[in-house]
Amino acid sequence: MTSSDHAPLNAKHLTITAPSPWVCRFAPLIRQGGDVLDVACGGGRHARYLLHRGHPVTMLDRDVEPVRDLAVDSRAEIIEADLEIGDPLPLEGRRFAAIVVVNYLYRPLLPQLIDHLDQQGVLIYETFARGNERFNRPRNPDHLLKSGELLEIVRERLQVVAYEHGIVDEGVLPGVKQRICAVKTPPAPDRDDGEPEPVRLFSQ
Ligand SMILES: C[S@@+](CC[C@H](N)C(=O)[O-])C[C@H]1O[C@@H](n2cnc3c(N)ncnc32)[C@H](O)[C@@H]1O
Repeated sequence: MTSSDHAPLNAKHLTITAPSPWVCRFAPLIRQGGDVLDVACGGGRHARYLLHRGHPVTMLDRDVEPVRDLAVDSRAEIIEADLEIGDPLPLEGRRFAAIVVVNYLYRPLLPQLIDHLDQQGVLIYETFARGNERFNRPRNPDHLLKSGELLEIVRERLQVVAYEHGIVDEGVLPGVKQRICAVKTPPAPDRDDGEPEPVRLFSQ
């Protein structure tokens, strides 16, 4: 999201403090007290929510001023980094119990993110998708997921717990969105068909 396509969206984002309902819905799947990575954290609405739930949180963004206030929390790690210059993520050897990405897309990062998930690690991803250009910014196809794209990215690497794609017309940033929750699960040891253990869900 480097182009001016996103400038007003980014500014608007800083006014949104409530976490995404998609993140709240799947946060209970994250191992209790497990480390979480918030990619392109913006004002840190998800980092704040997850810190409140008892998770240490690492935040990545090229502009970390909006989360500077969190530096007083010893469980909060703030990393200033441009994620789109081709460098590996500044997280060598680190694994997370969950990775959260909301309203940000830079395709080359996606396989790397999966590498940084622990066993049982949860990917919670939500961003705008094709069709959004009819409603709102972002309109640049580089910043809009294709139909099924998140499913394709996690295929054979993560177990999909939930996926949605469509028009979301509530909230401060309505539009066409795609969202996934998927878990890194090894094949179940007692099966011979390579299927993973099912993930334990929870009642709402
Ligand atoms: C639309 S905001 C989303 C913020 C947050 N995830 C949320 O949902 O509130 C997009 C964020 O991506 C960050 N960003 C855009 N391009 C980036 C880059 N090249 N490297 C790192 N962060 C970037 C912006 O600074 C901004 O905080």
